[in-house]
Amino acid sequence: MKEKLEQIKNEALSVLKDNLPVDELEKIRVEFLGKKGKLTSILREMGKLSQEDRPKMGALANSVRSEIEQVLENKFEEAEVILQNAKLKEEVIDVTMPGKLTSMGKLHPLTQVIDQISDIFIGMGFEIAEGPEVEFDHYNFEALNIPKDHPARDTQDTFYVNDNIVLRSQTSPVQIRVMEKTQPPIRIISPGRVYRSDAVDATHSPVFHQIEGLVVDKGITMADLKGTLEEFVKSLYGPEAKIRFRPHHFPFTEPSAEVDVSCFVCGGKGCSVCKGEGWIEILGAGMVHPTVLQNCGIDPEVYSGFAFGVGAERISMGKFTIDDMRQFYDNDIKFLQQF
Ligand code: DAH
Repeated sequence: MKEKLEQIKNEALSVLKDNLPVDELEKIRVEFLGKKGKLTSILREMGKLSQEDRPKMGALANSVRSEIEQVLENKFEEAEVILQNAKLKEEVIDVTMPGKLTSMGKLHPLTQVIDQISDIFIGMGFEIAEGPEVEFDHYNFEALNIPKDHPARDTQDTFYVNDNIVLRSQTSPVQIRVMEKTQPPIRIISPGRVYRSDAVDATHSPVFHQIEGLVVDKGITMADLKGTLEEFVKSLYGPEAKIRFRPHHFPFTEPSAEVDVSCFVCGGKGCSVCKGEGWIEILGAGMVHPTVLQNCGIDPEVYSGFAFGVGAERISMGKFTIDDMRQFYDNDIKFLQQF
């Protein structure tokens, strides 16, 4: 039995070579030390031994077992280290390799302009207000003092959903919605989509964008309107930009004006962009009509206000020298990537 034990030990030590993988080591462990392993089978024969030999063989068997266990343990540890190193090698990152370029999206030229204009007014203390694009005739026309026979109310100009509901033809109805809900001081701008039943060409689209502005407080005068718009164009076009007011008529403001900015291409000398004028029209504005204030429950004897409406397409076309409005809506990536 002693020889058998020695033989098992030697056999086990000889198969436990260097650099064996974990699963091989496990097989060897089972083969020698497992329940049906070689060492265990020998121990079953212990019963056949004499009383005298039994403890000696028992001790020898134990020392063989622990010797094999010890070597196995070391080999398992080595195998783990080898496995770790292989893994590290495999997962190494070469930071000098060129990276994969992901193409970045960008904002639409109209969105860029609307965001920039919003930021300028937010900087002056304005808040953003929103209103629905499907609007009551009352808000789009009636409360804005636009009379029943006004040409803007014709189906030639406005999309009607039914007798009382239209696709808003301007962002001005947001003025009414805000004044109905809020007492002055009011300082809002409202960017959004508007609709007119226009045929599509280089300067017309049935859907376009406006940015409405409204200020109502005690003692607001035309000087506030001029100062605010001057600050606006200087922020948008640079410190050299000037504004010019031309008398005009809007039913919801009195007095009303169309406002031009000195040409941001030639500075006012006259060029192809301003068509030799030196000035470019950018918005409509005026002092809020007393009737409009009254329609919203604001006392025109106590409060006054100014309002303006900017065309976002017009500003964006000027800023990026885009000559055809249709290009905004074609979704041609090659075109849009330029801005
Ligand atoms: N709503 C006008 C339009 O679509 C633009 C406008 C003019 C807005 C004067 C205003 C304003 O708030 O005061 O033509």
